[in-house]
Amino acid sequence: MTSYKELGLVNTKEMFAKAVKGGYAIPAFNFNTMEQMQAIVQAAVETKSPVIMQVSKGARNYANATILRYMAQGAVEYAKELGCAKPQIVLHLDHGDSFELCKDCIDMGFSSVMIDGSSLPYEENIALTKKVVDYAHKYDVTVEAELGVLAGVEDEVASEVSHYTKPEEVIDFANRSGCDSLAISIGTSHGAYKFKPEQCTRDPKTGKLVPPPLAFDVLHAIEKKLPGFPIVLHGSSSVPQDEVDTINKYGGKLPDAVGIPEEQLREASKSAVCKINIDSDSRLAMTAAIRQYLAEHPDHFDPRQYLKPARENMKKMYIHKIVNVLGSNNKL
Ligand code: G3H
Ligand code: 13P
Ligand code: ZN
Repeated sequence: MTSYKELGLVNTKEMFAKAVKGGYAIPAFNFNTMEQMQAIVQAAVETKSPVIMQVSKGARNYANATILRYMAQGAVEYAKELGCAKPQIVLHLDHGDSFELCKDCIDMGFSSVMIDGSSLPYEENIALTKKVVDYAHKYDVTVEAELGVLAGVEDEVASEVSHYTKPEEVIDFANRSGCDSLAISIGTSHGAYKFKPEQCTRDPKTGKLVPPPLAFDVLHAIEKKLPGFPIVLHGSSSVPQDEVDTINKYGGKLPDAVGIPEEQLREASKSAVCKINIDSDSRLAMTAAIRQYLAEHPDHFDPRQYLKPARENMKKMYIHKIVNVLGSNNKL
């Protein structure tokens, strides 16, 4: 058993309480590679922001659980080396799908886990979440749960059963599961294709797709039911058009990729939403820089040559999110 405290990590309790009170959100960036980790730490240190570094089950399999544990410890030490006396870094399991996986992560130094029972019937979601909470809290590890299913607006409209989180369920769910934060569904979704073109309108000037707005009425109703309780938004990449254009210019094929407009995430950050998950934007920033570099330097083959601009481009994106969208800068 390795406690996250030995690694210099923190759980989400204090940072979420401050974020809800202060009207900002903590960035939760997914990572799979050393370059992503370096860029996340550099961005957090330069902006004086707390940060959540999160790994999915797939990322954990890709990187190896032991390597990840040392990478997280390395992230804390690296932040100190860069001049941050007291880094606030969380290592979080994203979308844990079983008690065993959550337990494994807790035992290996994660300071926070998500148990995603959102596809289960309501009572089963509560029971599974509570089982994880009972174990995690013994070790002061915080637990994120999910209620409601992330889906596009069309599914919401077309389906007879609503996929959005039902505000009338959140008090009972939070009380009985004991979770520390709750991921909700208000119209965000994972990946670079969040809405189908027929769900969007087109900007007459640019011809670009304009997605439908998030369900802020549902968010506000949830906030009223659970005042001050930390709310999480998944699927919150904005899919920057310039990165998509670069990818397409240099041989990629991402037609009609569309994300969540940053103004809406800025608005959400000021509410009880205190954790915003971003993965796809990092993938796009990395891929765009690598495609451009390789197209412009066809004779180069040292990975450091193309991974360096990729790391720089991700860092730029992380800083932009922290400062201009989530508002978590200058909070250390
Ligand atoms: O929510 C999903 C994250 O973007 C992680 O994706 O399972 O492909 O690592 P992944
Ligand atoms: P994006 O695909 O919008 O980046 O969402 C990431 C996420 O929610 C990870 O859990
Ligand atoms: Zn997610």
